[in-house]
Amino acid sequence: MSFKVCVFDAYGTLFDVNSAARKCAAEPGREKFAEFWPLISANWREKQLSYSWLLNILGEYNDFWQITESALDYALELVGLDRDAELKKRLLNLYRELDTYTEVKSVLSNLSTRNITCAILSNGSKFMLDAAVKNSGVKSYFKAVLSVDEIGVFKPNSKVYEMVLDHTNFKIDEVLFVSSNGWDIAGASSFGFKTVWINRLNLPYDRLPFQPDEIGIDLTHVEALIN
Ligand code: LAC
Repeated sequence: MSFKVCVFDAYGTLFDVNSAARKCAAEPGREKFAEFWPLISANWREKQLSYSWLLNILGEYNDFWQITESALDYALELVGLDRDAELKKRLLNLYRELDTYTEVKSVLSNLSTRNITCAILSNGSKFMLDAAVKNSGVKSYFKAVLSVDEIGVFKPNSKVYEMVLDHTNFKIDEVLFVSSNGWDIAGASSFGFKTVWINRLNLPYDRLPFQPDEIGIDLTHVEALIN
């Protein structure tokens, strides 16, 4: 499979969305939160994504940071922790400095050694993404960090994937799109990109009209595709 640019989804693909709640749960005095953190983190992510899809359908746009905060409010209220303003603030601060998955930095470094251009295409708001790439130390690996803030519509709307062609001089058949989100892969495949689904949790594939060209368990699968 030949490609010249590797375009990555951000959250769940490069950045571990569960690392905010996991780190918070390990802090002193977080016993109550620690009891529920996996459930809170799962609901936080689920609502973050479903709100973005529903806003697309409603023709509305709140940026992904606002959605991330609203989704956290929902997840905390579900377990009766919504009145803890300090906890919420701490979780949001940790969300600005999510860990990368363990293999991410070495894969990005290998791709750049092999002269593969790397970019990010994300629902994340501009400031969220700038904070994430800076705080995790991966900023220098990316030629472009593209946020849907610019067009006011979320994935999987085709206008989002179009941003890659508008912001780079690559052709559609030179792009490899990489995401851990099956629905995002369906959107990118439908748009016409070659796609790799990073199935980190070994989930069943989504029953959608468009399937990935490749499936891997982590980003090392992308390295293996370089001719
Ligand atoms: C993103 C979310 C969808 O980074 O993971 O766009």
